[in-house]
Amino acid sequence: KVDRLAALEILDSRGFPTVEVVMEAGGKVARASVPSGKSTGKFEALERRDGDKSRFQGKGVLGATHSVEDEIAGALVGKDLPPQAVLDKLLIDLDGTPNKSRLGANAILGVSMACARLWAAVEGQPLYRSLGGEEANLLPVPCFNVLNGGAHADNPLDWQEFMIVPAGLPSFAEALRAGAETYHKLAAILKEGDLSISVGDEGGFAPDITYPEEALDLLVEAIQGAGYKPGKDIFIALDPAASGFYKKGNYTFAEESMDARGMTSLYKSWLGKYPIISIEDGLAEDDWDGWVHLTRETGAQVQLVGDDIFVSDQARVRQAMTADMANAVLLKPNQIGSLSEIIATARVAQHGGFRCMMSHRSGETQDDFIADLAVALGVGQIKSGAPARGERVAKYNQLLRIERELGAKARFAGPAAFRGK
Ligand code: PGA
Ligand code: ZN
Repeated sequence: KVDRLAALEILDSRGFPTVEVVMEAGGKVARASVPSGKSTGKFEALERRDGDKSRFQGKGVLGATHSVEDEIAGALVGKDLPPQAVLDKLLIDLDGTPNKSRLGANAILGVSMACARLWAAVEGQPLYRSLGGEEANLLPVPCFNVLNGGAHADNPLDWQEFMIVPAGLPSFAEALRAGAETYHKLAAILKEGDLSISVGDEGGFAPDITYPEEALDLLVEAIQGAGYKPGKDIFIALDPAASGFYKKGNYTFAEESMDARGMTSLYKSWLGKYPIISIEDGLAEDDWDGWVHLTRETGAQVQLVGDDIFVSDQARVRQAMTADMANAVLLKPNQIGSLSEIIATARVAQHGGFRCMMSHRSGETQDDFIADLAVALGVGQIKSGAPARGERVAKYNQLLRIERELGAKARFAGPAAFRGK
């Protein structure tokens, strides 16, 4: 039986409020908290905020915590702990809106995650096994966002994320070490060049650079400087978050302006020059035609991940498969707002031959749920920011624990995770 359901307004890594949920049943207690994005997609489930300007600049979440403690608790407390799918359906029906705007996706997801943790506790299983079964033993390749720009930093760089991807290392632990060593080498290179090592929202450095090529060159230099081979040990992944600099058919950054064809040519020219393994949101969420062109031109050589354009919604992923655009989907649980729905999106993607990357948000908490979820779903890729800052490494450190616990059964996804079928 569910004995208690409570919610608290806590702070995220940017110092803005977010929702933490506590759920108790059968003497077990589970806690979960919800992250918050900044460069959000237009079609995301609604994160409910109070809008009361006298508190946290209107960003309070007391409405969402009250949804949990009043309506949702009213439906759950005193009853048997429902199976996950039953709970999520109940929450979606109780909310009654297409985008979870009445109770708030932040309220619903918090309860959904807490319930999954509670089931794991009741079963006496680790979360990844409770969700993924005995077969859940694939450790994802970490994608470390080491240079931040766009909405996540106030440097002149319009492109949001430049990631290093140690896919060629033999284990998750070794990949994490390679990522951290390269991150520190990058800091040394920036300092030598009189560039700032202050960091952006995801823990990556945010130096005063303007051109994406400068960022790419810095990454290659750091990888080599740390003693790794670019394109063999460590690859590069990009998330320009192109919706952020798209207007009326044109992409404008670093004083340049080009259409989707121009962007595609630019990416193509880089593929021969830099060890790029993945490009996320290389074009904008409204530019489906551009995405089709980009996929036709580069989809066989590189992973093309949809974030803002799919918002973790299985219906949009299905549409993309029919339209032959993109070949991978970013999985952000709070974009869709419940655990059952993010699992469904992953399954649709995997069955249709799309790859999946599990993802944090730029505003995070110490909650490490997505680490277990990545292993449970066997997605083979995760991005959780730089290999630094508490809320980022919480996820990576949990993956270290899982790898250790699985022992000889653990498999590291490696570069194959980024290749299509
Ligand atoms: P967000 O950015 O969490 O600020 O939306 C992350 C991303 O674009 O992948
Ligand atoms: Zn993105």
